[in-house]
Amino acid sequence: MAVPAGVDARVVIIGCGISGIGAAQKLINRGFRNVRIIEATSRSGGRIKTGSLDGKLIEIGANWIHGPSQENPVFRLASHYQLLDKESMSEENQSVDIGGLPPLFSTWLSSSGEKLDADLMAPAVEVFMTLLRKSQEFYNTSKAPMSTVGEFLKMEALHISNKEWKDDKTKKLRQALFSTLLKLECGISGTHTMDDVDLATFGMYKSLPGLDCTFPGGYEGLINQMMKELPKDIVLYNKPVKCIHWNSFYRQTSSKARTHPVTVECNNGETFEADHVIVTIPLGYMKKHHNTLLDPPLPQHKLHSIQRLGFGTNNKIFLEFEKPFWDEDCEVMFLVWEDEYDLQNPVSDMKTAWIRKMSCFTVLKPTERYGHLICGWIAGHESEYMETLPEEDILHTVTQLLHRFTGDSTIVVKKLVRSRWFHDPYTCGSYSYVAKDCSGRDIDNLAEPLPLTGLNAEPLQVLFAGEATHKSFFSTVHGALLTGWREADRLLSHYNLSARTITANL
Ligand SMILES: Cc1cc2nc3c(=O)[nH]c(=O)nc-3n(C[C@H](O)[C@H](O)[C@H](O)COP(=O)(O)OP(=O)(O)OC[C@H]3O[C@@H](n4cnc5c(N)ncnc54)[C@H](O)[C@@H]3O)c2cc1C
Ligand SMILES: *[C@@H]1O[C@H](CO)[C@@H](O)[C@H](O)[C@H]1NC(C)=O
Ligand SMILES: *[C@@H]1O[C@H](CO)[C@@H](O)[C@H](O)[C@H]1NC(C)=O
Repeated sequence: MAVPAGVDARVVIIGCGISGIGAAQKLINRGFRNVRIIEATSRSGGRIKTGSLDGKLIEIGANWIHGPSQENPVFRLASHYQLLDKESMSEENQSVDIGGLPPLFSTWLSSSGEKLDADLMAPAVEVFMTLLRKSQEFYNTSKAPMSTVGEFLKMEALHISNKEWKDDKTKKLRQALFSTLLKLECGISGTHTMDDVDLATFGMYKSLPGLDCTFPGGYEGLINQMMKELPKDIVLYNKPVKCIHWNSFYRQTSSKARTHPVTVECNNGETFEADHVIVTIPLGYMKKHHNTLLDPPLPQHKLHSIQRLGFGTNNKIFLEFEKPFWDEDCEVMFLVWEDEYDLQNPVSDMKTAWIRKMSCFTVLKPTERYGHLICGWIAGHESEYMETLPEEDILHTVTQLLHRFTGDSTIVVKKLVRSRWFHDPYTCGSYSYVAKDCSGRDIDNLAEPLPLTGLNAEPLQVLFAGEATHKSFFSTVHGALLTGWREADRLLSHYNLSARTITANL
């Protein structure tokens, strides 16, 4: 049988995160034999990164499979490789519809060192969740009453509390709790403030059914399994790409005859020629380096969308203890600052008040696996500032915070590890969101291959994948994986090779 045309095409994939790996996997399965991945760092996985603290596995990057059910390709792969606990695989848990937040056993700690009564707080949580759902319903309706999610949530929340809650003390406490939940939402969206998140497009993000689950052996186990199925030396590590020269055929700037339309130039001067390049570089990096990353530069509309779309920071601070100070069934401890009832930006002075932006601590479970380990969540500029501080300073500030909020000044933090995604030179933040005045069109622009159709040039020279290029699953691992597959499929159909699923049972 004749070898189908296309399989000899030279494909360079930039970035060895899950989107790049997914693209390679699909092309190689379909017979492509000139596929290469060029990665800036010394490792695969990108924002999937499992670390350790005292011998226990901790996730520096992605934590959960969001919506683990059959429609989720990450869930299908993880089940296929047998990487999940059996509880996560149960039919029952696959069909749980959390519609945003899992039903966690929460404790509410206040800045005066008291544990707040959960029943007293429940109405505020309910109002907030209802408003969040409402904010999602404006998508496709042209009825959004304001431009951002933050403005909408704050206005409605204050309006309802003034109308419904007569006792002044209770009202203020519940409003302070709104402030905490807004900070939590900043982390989920990966933004500094919800005032930066577009209201009309908020509902474009789709959540899948299933009770969010983790990888008992670490998220990176998934990467390792996928890498095993690729040719051994497919990845070139430690090779940051400096510039993608495209449309080379038609620009006679060099006397050297080129045989391929794209040349990828690395920082160290090495070059790689290709027929097709799939760029999976994070949006944060693109924002910072777009003016040098492509030559000729990006078309205006693509450039504008890169500049306009949001890419913010969400970090974790893991804390280990000799013994727990929380109740056995507690899954998350929220921090409520009683003076934050007006829902204004809580942090005035970064140096002294950055810690106010931390919304909560989640407790790592099960205890047999993790010991006494909790994870603090902090997003936005305060999170970026936290990254610049020495570990001792953070330890000191967090310890003071715990003493204040528990009223127990004997608590000692044994060990601390934090993530630093903003200062990671090849990520420059955590994940993308649809910023104020952006829409699905911006994501389409981001994903559009070069050259634009209609130009007289070799088609599909530069393709774009990665988390930020998925319209309904941006900011997730499954979104990233699907975009890698999408761009591989684009090449397959370009060469009239029908897209085939990866293995028989996936
Ligand atoms: C703190 C945190 C928590 C998260 N939690 C979750 C979660 O619980 N669930 C979930 O679904 N998602 C989560 N995410 C998001 C998820 O991790 C990402 O959406 C996904 O991993 C992105 O995959 P990607 O392939 O698009 O990008 P990446 O994984 O970032 O891969 C891109 C690769 O490109 C490389 N690169 C960059 N610049 C260059 C260059 N110039 N030359 C060569 N290579 C370059 C990078 O080094 C990187 O390896 C989280 C992310 C963070 C940061
Ligand atoms: C669903 O998940 C929860 C949390 O992991 C677990 O306790 C429960 O046993 C699971 N349900 C089933 C039917 O496995
Ligand atoms: C929104 O509108 C677009 C374009 O009309 C359509 O493709 C999409 O399915 C709609 N989405 C929802 C959630 O209604």
